Amino acid sequence: MSESQTDALSEPLYKAEGAAIGAVVFFSSASENTARFVDNCDFQDEGINVYRIPLRPKDPALNVREPYVLIVPTYGGGSAHKAVPTQVKQFLNNPDNRQYIRGVIASGNSNFGEAYCIAGDIISAKCKVPFMYRFELMGTPEDRTAVRQGLLDFYTKAREPVAATV
Ligand SMILES: Cc1cc2nc3c(=O)[nH]c(=O)nc-3n(C[C@H](O)[C@H](O)[C@H](O)COP(=O)(O)O)c2cc1C
Repeated sequence: MSESQTDALSEPLYKAEGAAIGAVVFFSSASENTARFVDNCDFQDEGINVYRIPLRPKDPALNVREPYVLIVPTYGGGSAHKAVPTQVKQFLNNPDNRQYIRGVIASGNSNFGEAYCIAGDIISAKCKVPFMYRFELMGTPEDRTAVRQGLLDFYTKAREPVAATV
């Protein structure tokens, strides 16, 4: 495969209504909990593009070139070095993708105790971005409201012009 094919800019899974104010990038395994959370958030209605990191190595790589918040489930069964899914590591190992991350939201299962949602702590520390929110499995309606509103506020504030200093 040629370099231009591997680096081709990806299309969002759900394209923002009107002019985009920001983006969400998410990963979800075959159990699809995170995918259900994202589907039910309808981010595209708020002007947020939604991109999905592919599950299978054969799928074309995701290339995102706009600011995004990453939504990631925690894996590893309590082991920190396996907590971030391989597919997410590969996506972030591309510096052209990594430079646009602005925050991370992690999901998990509270049965894992201290390892609950630790993928968020790890990515936050490595990429130096805020760990914005955590939720369990496919989230609750309250989680969806909090994340939708939180991202809207985050991207709206990011667009406000910096006040002139005198
Ligand atoms: C093998 C395995 C290991 C997991 N390890 C953790 C963990 O260390 N910490 C945690 O909070 N959740 C852990 N989980 C729970 C998942 O993060 C949770 O089920 C999540 O909703 C999966 O999202 P997905 O269906 O979108 O892939 C684990 C789940 C599985 C199947």
